[in-house]
Amino acid sequence: MSAISKTNVAVFVSGSGTNLQAIIDSGIESANIAVVVCNTPGAMAIERAKKHRIPVEIVNSKDFKSREKFERHIVAKIDKYDIGLVVLAGFMRILTPYFINRFRNRIINIHPSLLPSFPGINSVRQALDYGVKQTGCTVHFVGEEVDAGPIILQVAVAVAEEDTENTLLEKVHAQEHSILPEAIRLFCEGKLTLRGKKVLVSS
Ligand code: GAR
Repeated sequence: MSAISKTNVAVFVSGSGTNLQAIIDSGIESANIAVVVCNTPGAMAIERAKKHRIPVEIVNSKDFKSREKFERHIVAKIDKYDIGLVVLAGFMRILTPYFINRFRNRIINIHPSLLPSFPGINSVRQALDYGVKQTGCTVHFVGEEVDAGPIILQVAVAVAEEDTENTLLEKVHAQEHSILPEAIRLFCEGKLTLRGKKVLVSS
């Protein structure tokens, strides 16, 4: 029986870390969560990682004069983990070309809308305010343009008339927790091929 080769994954977080939890709980055979990087000391995500004995690097973005200095510090910290994939799971910092080039086509992000609709922050609020009947979530590769990289997976979520930001957020989150681990699995199994703006997914 041959052992499954695993890709070392760095999960970047800023807040509660429910997506991190979903990645941990899904136990993807082809992925090893090598390290969790958090830019906000005290975030709940840190406790989730520690509970599962995953190494955590806390790098406070407020301690750095520039985004690139902050990223260079992170890169120095995670160098030893031989990272093959960076997953932005609620990481609320915009990355510079320095970091994007360092992990070119090996950074994925989860976003709480059907991109290209409602990029940026408060996407669920934006969708509610706009009055769309469907919103959802997107996993995409990260490029220089914010929330605009090639789309890997998307799921739609119906917006009910009685939805509040919280109820809709809950529905979107539930879908995020399924497509983010799935996208990681596809990446680590070598099933994603980039063709320009398109991502081909093989089964
Ligand atoms: C998630 O909904 C994710 O899509 C969003 O932050 C939340 C993090 O939740 N990310 C963005 O808005 C990025 N632009 P979590 O910490 O519970 O996983």
